[in-house]
Amino acid sequence: MDLEIHPLDPASMKQPPVDDFGFGNLFSNRMFTQQFTAGQGWHDAKIGPYEPISLWPSTAVFHYAQEIFEGTKAYRRADGNVNLFRPWENARRFNESARRMVMPAVDEEDHVAAIVKLVELEEAWVPNVPGATLYIRPAMIATDPALGVHASKTYLHFIILSPVGAYFKEGFNPVPVFISDEYRRAVKGGTGAAKTGGNYASSLFVSEAVKSKGYSQVLWLDAIHGRYVEEVGAMNICFVYGGQHIVTPKLSGSILPGITRKSLLTLAPDLGYEVSEETIDVNDMLADLKSGKITEVFGCGTAAVIAPVGKFGYKDEEYLINDYQPGPVSHRLYEELTGIQDGRLPDPYGWTHTIEVA
Ligand code: PLP
Ligand code: COI
Repeated sequence: MDLEIHPLDPASMKQPPVDDFGFGNLFSNRMFTQQFTAGQGWHDAKIGPYEPISLWPSTAVFHYAQEIFEGTKAYRRADGNVNLFRPWENARRFNESARRMVMPAVDEEDHVAAIVKLVELEEAWVPNVPGATLYIRPAMIATDPALGVHASKTYLHFIILSPVGAYFKEGFNPVPVFISDEYRRAVKGGTGAAKTGGNYASSLFVSEAVKSKGYSQVLWLDAIHGRYVEEVGAMNICFVYGGQHIVTPKLSGSILPGITRKSLLTLAPDLGYEVSEETIDVNDMLADLKSGKITEVFGCGTAAVIAPVGKFGYKDEEYLINDYQPGPVSHRLYEELTGIQDGRLPDPYGWTHTIEVA
């Protein structure tokens, strides 16, 4: 890939924030872009100013949502250098989503190289505050200016950077979760295993509706039986039995295969926990909560890392979890995983890629 680096106008350069990051509202000065056309493949790779994209109102992505995105992070190490976490794994999932959405694959090495170069140039935007990171958002959109319902012939691939704090206003405190009996996120044979905007658009109706009932996230059940646990909000979900056995739903085709989930399935056994991937019936799960067999529940994903669940609401009943406190397993996994990510702990798995900037 010939990557052009365009200079920035010093007058328009913003300074990175030092605190109050929020989640996803602030963006660094630069972004990566490249274009795809059927004859030429990917071309015009460049890092230039973070600026608006100009597209015709007829552009395919606005109408039929042919779009994919990713989320990964850069972490500040104590020595001043910066870690990426499993960036190749993330690039592979980007291409899996692209395949499902009939979009062209990117060269995974080029994609990771673009992230590394962008983070090097924007190194000052990697926060130096515990719990804060630089969220990296790659995306690809269909750019044909035409209304025919078919795969676009042209695409834009871009990568933007956002310094972020905790994903939830609750921080590491538990979140209240509503189990939707009526609405579904994804169906087998659909696009649930791809990271495509439509999955998130269709989740908004019930996600917004439950806020008025005092819940901040939705637990999604499978769309065929309305019975098997799939995900929580935009995270995978884990149940802890007896303080030592971690159970997560088996990937079903409608669940996004999370990189945090995959990492926990490797890490947790090395910390002495048992792990299994199972088909989880919501009624059995709630009975196990009531009887005390389940001691903790947490969501896991790049943005929040580990998000303890404080209670479930389902069909007018409430199920309190661990007295609405973060449990010891959630806490330990959060510490161990973030320790590997930001270099406080050794990384025996080779998951981190260090960018030397100090
Ligand atoms: N499930 C959904 C629907 C997501 O959007 C995400 C976030 O990326 C995850 C799960 C967790 O995936 P990861 O751990 O790779 O961030
Ligand atoms: C995650 O990274 O865990 C997410 O789900 C990101 C979210 C902002 C879509």
